[in-house]
Amino acid sequence: MVETIQWTDSGVVMIDQTRLPLEEIYVTCSTYEDVAAAIRGMVIRGAPAIGVAAAMGVALGLLNASSGDLDAQFARICDTLAATRPTAVNLFWAIDRMKRRFAEWRALPLDELRRRMVAEAAQIRLEDIATNESIGRHGAPLLPNGRTVLTHCNAGALATAGYGTALGVIRAAVASGNPLDVFADETRPFLQGARLTVWELQRDGIPATLITDNMAGHFLNSGRIGSVVVGADRIAANGDVANKIGTYSVAVLARENNVPFYVAAPISTLDLSLPSGDAIPIEQRPTSEVTHVFGVQVAPDNASVQNPAFDVTPNRYVTAIITERGVARAPYEQSLRALAGA
Ligand code: MRU
Repeated sequence: MVETIQWTDSGVVMIDQTRLPLEEIYVTCSTYEDVAAAIRGMVIRGAPAIGVAAAMGVALGLLNASSGDLDAQFARICDTLAATRPTAVNLFWAIDRMKRRFAEWRALPLDELRRRMVAEAAQIRLEDIATNESIGRHGAPLLPNGRTVLTHCNAGALATAGYGTALGVIRAAVASGNPLDVFADETRPFLQGARLTVWELQRDGIPATLITDNMAGHFLNSGRIGSVVVGADRIAANGDVANKIGTYSVAVLARENNVPFYVAAPISTLDLSLPSGDAIPIEQRPTSEVTHVFGVQVAPDNASVQNPAFDVTPNRYVTAIITERGVARAPYEQSLRALAGA
């Protein structure tokens, strides 16, 4: 399986997701500012992967920090990383975890503090892979045997430290003998479905068919699709789900056609502090992502453009939320809190 992100002696190494699938290039971030730029520029993307990158960025920043004024430097590192992308709550979850450890180990000699913080970031990466495998085990039995699964964006190994959430469920189902195939929405404007999901599934030998986003309704209505599985960037306490723009349309079309709509996400994607999806901050991306495709202008000069990167699917369209601790169903206020142990 592809290595999305790794800690090495020369820095944080990530596969450049802006260059896939045409080029497999790995970039090395040697400063926390490099990591922040990589997150903002989508070199690394996907909620859990962003969290791992942020944790490694914090550790890297601390390695490069001088011994004087350490607290102020640490705060600056965390603030810089937290300002990269607003929607995926895993970013803030990972930074908060690193902040807690820093406070716990602050009195240790600096070398030991640094060693432990690097180990903590590496641990977050390992835990994420194990979490996704567990999501896969819980979700696999939900996918109808031998039927087509529709997915949106990329919630695969590339969007995590490995294995994936939505694609983890698909991988686990295939591994358990379910001869399913996948339809992947291309996912305008950044094309995570076309560029990343199809690439990942091809590498695994899982049959994948690429469709444009506006074909999803047609195929959901045709009876071809047996289930939909997507990832999430943030899930509110009531089960409203923020995910890649276009997810909401797929969810409504799935309901209209009686196709189950599953969301696969780790507990770290829950934000129980928010009562509903209305409070989830939605990232606005540069308009050039809409007016241009791979640098080629496709819209007239001065076109008025909107580019929200995420939308919110109301909980009533969500058949179930698959986590590493089990499957939550409505009413989500209760089921999510129970799984979170809150
Ligand atoms: O803008 P992106 O590519 O970071 O958006 C990614 C998604 O919306 C994913 O579906 C989500 O982060 C879940 S990844 C396991």
